[in-house]
Amino acid sequence: MTQEEILNRIKGLKKEKKALILAHNYQRPEVQAVADITGDSLELARAAAKTDSEIIVLCGVKFMAETAAILNPGKKVLLPERNAGCPMADMVTADELRALKNKYPGVPVVTYINSTAEVKAESTVCCTSSNAVDVVNSVDGEKVIFVPDKNLGAYVSSRVDKQLILWNGCCYVHDCLTREEVLRVIDSHSGAKVIAHPECRSEVLKIADAVLSTSGMLDYAKKTDAMTIIVATEIGMLWPLKKTAPGKNFIPASFNMVCRDMKSVTIESVLSSLEEERFEIKVPGETGKKALNAIRRMLSVK
Ligand code: 13P
Ligand code: SF4
Repeated sequence: MTQEEILNRIKGLKKEKKALILAHNYQRPEVQAVADITGDSLELARAAAKTDSEIIVLCGVKFMAETAAILNPGKKVLLPERNAGCPMADMVTADELRALKNKYPGVPVVTYINSTAEVKAESTVCCTSSNAVDVVNSVDGEKVIFVPDKNLGAYVSSRVDKQLILWNGCCYVHDCLTREEVLRVIDSHSGAKVIAHPECRSEVLKIADAVLSTSGMLDYAKKTDAMTIIVATEIGMLWPLKKTAPGKNFIPASFNMVCRDMKSVTIESVLSSLEEERFEIKVPGETGKKALNAIRRMLSVK
């Protein structure tokens, strides 16, 4: 089948099965092109929360499909690639979080949405990169347990009046970018603005003009007067950025910033997913119910 035939078949099946295709901003351009909605983690969670579709195809990684499944018990949530995960989500387990909670009794837990359903179920509230500061400010008390991303946690720490107890997790894609690499790119593009995802190290965030979620980057690109923008996040972002602000120049901070799991989803796997209704992501009863409380609480914040 040619790419065009695959795309047409996906569009046909989507209509026939009344399916909703959600795609994260890092997905391949051709996958984003067949999606009904593209966005950052918060936008995808919001879209999943309000859909009437009986089938949701989540083009992204497992925690995103789990979040959609938690919000839609009884609906079919499909992840086109069975093994598309987020390594950071597996850096803290429910047992480890329970042990941390025992060490700090009564301290609320804010959990980044890049986490497993079991960890969400042990949490007070979830957050994403776009609402983390507001979510942390929304919980009671001066101390907050924040898992699993130490970089996002350190960034939030610098913006709130609370003490954050951090976990030693991180995203390998963002954490490998150094200040020196970014400075070299800045040197060869004078006048450029730097935008960075909060999963980057604080040494990178300190030299950024703006720290933003992936969709926050799209807004920034539309509004800024700068014509050249250095982008410190997964390189898949370059496609939606160019589409949103076609006249502007987007320079990757590093070509090494590739998320293998995000890129494992292809239009071929989206087609098989719709045809065979695979791979269904389910979150069992009690875990789903407890995780839903943490997600719902997040959605009520911002
Ligand atoms: P966003 O919510 O900003 O899209 O980030 C998701 C993610 O996995 C970044 O690595
Ligand atoms: Fe996870 Fe990093 Fe990939 Fe985002 S870019 S899905 S945090 S591994």
